[in-house]
Amino acid sequence: MRPDTRPFAHRHLLGIEQLSREDVLFLLDLADGYVELNRRPEKKLSLLRGLTQINLFFESSTRTRTSFELAGKRLGADVVNMSVSTSAIRKGETLIDTAMTLNAMHPDVLVVRHADSGAVELLARHVRCAVINGGDGRHEHPTQALLDALTIRRRKGRIEGLTVAICGDLLHSRVARSNILLLTRLGARVRLVGPPTLLPRTFAAYGVEVYHDMREGLRDADIVMMLRLQTERMRGSFVPSTREYFHFYGLTYRQLEVTKPDVLVMHPGPMNRGIEIDGVVADDIHRSAILDQVEMGVAVRMACLDALTRARRAGA
Ligand code: CP
Repeated sequence: MRPDTRPFAHRHLLGIEQLSREDVLFLLDLADGYVELNRRPEKKLSLLRGLTQINLFFESSTRTRTSFELAGKRLGADVVNMSVSTSAIRKGETLIDTAMTLNAMHPDVLVVRHADSGAVELLARHVRCAVINGGDGRHEHPTQALLDALTIRRRKGRIEGLTVAICGDLLHSRVARSNILLLTRLGARVRLVGPPTLLPRTFAAYGVEVYHDMREGLRDADIVMMLRLQTERMRGSFVPSTREYFHFYGLTYRQLEVTKPDVLVMHPGPMNRGIEIDGVVADDIHRSAILDQVEMGVAVRMACLDALTRARRAGA
């Protein structure tokens, strides 16, 4: 692949909010090249040779942590995965002390996931290296939105003008927030669909349409993006029962009858089969892009690591 050496104007990737349309397109174009690289038998580059990446995950993860590790290694970085459960954080060390301790070891990139909204931004103020938000509370999950956009663009050929229905637990979802920001920035028509307890009307302020009826929200949609019911973030009861929730808001073939015939089904994972999505829909190779999303995740994270280390690699 031809090296792309254009500078990237950001020191950190904390959210989609800070990115312009041009920044997003730059990262998506860069990631396209990495998709092709990742499909070759020889996937390794030396672009980040000598640089150190630390993955610091205060919340559990399969996709984000593993793909960031693969991304860093495929670009030639030294990658360290910090296990929070065996770190000094368990002994009461604060987030800032942890950040300053890691900073003293001269890492070049920190990838951080934290249960509190704003924690990653706070940490970024105390380190000299680039910080990438791997998901903070209900706030943002920027690389998830980028990989979702890359999946849509590669499968549909465009994003502008598409109708995207994001369905389920909007209230607790950082994935939804980042996707709303990114998809509207790229010209998609975004609908949010969910029960009033998990989708307050105030979400309309994002410039989206709000639906509480699943079939109304899905009518003529090009993309249906399902969200997990995030019981771990819920204080109290938001749905009468998971069975009832599936009846009204679970994605089934019956619900898909009203979408465009070539609708694409997406889910950031992890999935709760039989709660927000029927397993047969999730596994439908003609409609489901869920495993494509996982593949795009590695390429997007390679693009983010590449872009954010450019100034550093150039010696600035
Ligand atoms: N989509 C996502 O963030 O998955 P993980 O929690 O497995 O990283």
